[in-house]
Amino acid sequence: MKKIKIFSPATVANVSCGFDVLGFCLDTIGDEMIIRKTKTKGITITKIEGFDLPYEAEKNVAGVSALALIADAKPDCGFEIEIYKNIKPGSGVGSSSASAAGSVFAINELLGKPYNTTELTYFAMKGEALASGSEHADNIAPALFGGFTLVKSCTPLKVLQLPTPSELYATIIHPEIEIKTAEARAILPENVALKSAITQWANVGSLVHALHTNDYDLLSESLNDGIIEPHRKQLIPYYDAIKSESIKADPLGCSISGSGPSIFALSKGEETAKRVAEAMSSVYSKTDINFNIYVSKINTQGMRIMNNE
Ligand code: HSE
Repeated sequence: MKKIKIFSPATVANVSCGFDVLGFCLDTIGDEMIIRKTKTKGITITKIEGFDLPYEAEKNVAGVSALALIADAKPDCGFEIEIYKNIKPGSGVGSSSASAAGSVFAINELLGKPYNTTELTYFAMKGEALASGSEHADNIAPALFGGFTLVKSCTPLKVLQLPTPSELYATIIHPEIEIKTAEARAILPENVALKSAITQWANVGSLVHALHTNDYDLLSESLNDGIIEPHRKQLIPYYDAIKSESIKADPLGCSISGSGPSIFALSKGEETAKRVAEAMSSVYSKTDINFNIYVSKINTQGMRIMNNE
């Protein structure tokens, strides 16, 4: 195989209560990338469409993760990367992770799959760190593994794949403002009260149990975040209004997607997810904020090979 074209999906990190550990993969939003083997060693980024991002491999998240992989694999060839970005950087649905994970997934395929998915997650974290200033894997893991994932630890890296209840749909509203992950992390407190921590880890545990047992009611009860959301919601215009309108359409829960500004809701069934989309849209429609709205099934596959030669 000399050339591969892939779909690299958007993802929702945190999933309300699981800051830096939980994430899930989206189906209808994502980037495309074409990677070719070259005789010249190293990583060359030859095309970026969609958004203005650096071409130097050392300054580009897809380049940094690819460089981490080839530093370990020492292949007898190099790679050219074309990036067709649909996921806006700073939108809160894993734009940098899609690039970082996409390049290592594709290169691994071209090399005959020497690495497993956890090892690819490790290389992709190097790219993510360039964008966000910290090595977390809660967007990268669901992009590579698909479905819901829990990052049990980063050092050593351990990712758990969680089951996806079949009727689960996500609604995502993306107001067109940019929030840099590093800035959204900088406003968070160093310490949290024990009482809040207890509630939060009980919610993470019950959310994981709900996914294993297809318990939509328990899932709904678990989608609460008393630690991160109160700080970050101030960065997102009309956050409280979006949340209270969406709740009228009866989703299982609604919270900030990753570090925002996107807001996600999870619903049982596509019809409810579409009603949530209408409710969310009605809030921004009355303002001068441009927005995109998506309804997506949970993508249990993760990365998708579109074609190869
Ligand atoms: N867990 C990360 C955060 C996801 O919320 O900061 C964004 O990269």
